[in-house]
Amino acid sequence: LYVDKGNYRHFMLKEIYEQPEVIGHTLGSFVDLTTGRTRLPRGASIDFSSIGRIALSACGTGYYAALVGRYYFERYARIACDLDVASEFRYRESPLDDVDLALFVSQSGETADTLASLRYAKETGLSTAAIVNVDESSIAREADHVLPTLAGPEIGVASTKAFTCQLMALAALAVRAGVDRGRIDARQELELTGVLQEAPRLVNEVLHLEEQIADLSRHMATKKHALFLGRGLSFPLALEGALKLKEISYIHAEGYAAGELKHGPIALIDDTMPVVVIAPHDRSFDKTASNVQEVAARGGEIILLTDRKGAAAGIVDDAHTIVLPDMPEILTPIVYSVPLQLLAYHTAVQMGTDVDQPRNLAKSVTVE
Ligand code: G6P
Repeated sequence: LYVDKGNYRHFMLKEIYEQPEVIGHTLGSFVDLTTGRTRLPRGASIDFSSIGRIALSACGTGYYAALVGRYYFERYARIACDLDVASEFRYRESPLDDVDLALFVSQSGETADTLASLRYAKETGLSTAAIVNVDESSIAREADHVLPTLAGPEIGVASTKAFTCQLMALAALAVRAGVDRGRIDARQELELTGVLQEAPRLVNEVLHLEEQIADLSRHMATKKHALFLGRGLSFPLALEGALKLKEISYIHAEGYAAGELKHGPIALIDDTMPVVVIAPHDRSFDKTASNVQEVAARGGEIILLTDRKGAAAGIVDDAHTIVLPDMPEILTPIVYSVPLQLLAYHTAVQMGTDVDQPRNLAKSVTVE
């Protein structure tokens, strides 16, 4: 397989820019774009009406996608979700008696811990499904149901387009599950799939913020530490944003649920600490806003990712604000991923690291 960087300086940047296209493709295998009805990709047949509990597991970025997936399944289908990093799921040997489906998320389909977890779930007699990007991988071969992300080959070690495709697959799957379980009626289904179809356009719009984010990254590159905060659907994004930054820029970064700020990380805040806050104007906004004010009161330097409504709320006087378009909640994890990717990317470029091949990391980890 030969993949070219084209006119891009790095594979990572090329892959960031491929997202409008590949999330659209991925959506197309979960939604019939002519009728707006959800469906499962060819070969998969999961009837969610009999599924009350799902055990999710994955590693790395896939784990954060699964964390968003849990919010989606619980919110749109009222399916309870257990969630573990695969290395813990496998060895924790948790009782799986109440679990109806084990769902794995993996770009490569070869991660040893995830594969071991899949095999463990099968041994216990569970039905298994995998959201996987590489068709001919071990996980794709061994799972009962394969739900492909159509991100295409991802070369940059730090995952970008595979992540947003995983989010898209999970969102569509949760809507499907809601339909099967009678939680979403035909009209709501059309509404939600209509919203999901807006994702490529919104991601494209957000890509236009690259210059502004590159400016910010010159400043970020002078820092030793960074904190990322988010609530609800934005909490997993805080974790993913911190992971991206540390993976490729080697700046120490931590992601936290914004509500946990006062239980520890607030002790770290002073005027040298950048705090990236992911705060779309959703049901969590007011609570996040008060966390932002707590950071501001302690001199922390705020980088606020929000939308027009959130920016208009004027929660702090002095923040670097990146304004994204307003959008329905289900889309925020997908669209807000993009500025986080660009921030990590440009910070790493500033620092002169090997963006596509960061030290000590491998694209696919085949040892436990
Ligand atoms: C490695 C990669 C990450 C990836 C993780 C899980 O750590 O560097 O980008 O998220 O493995 O890989 P998978 O292929 O199972 O998604």
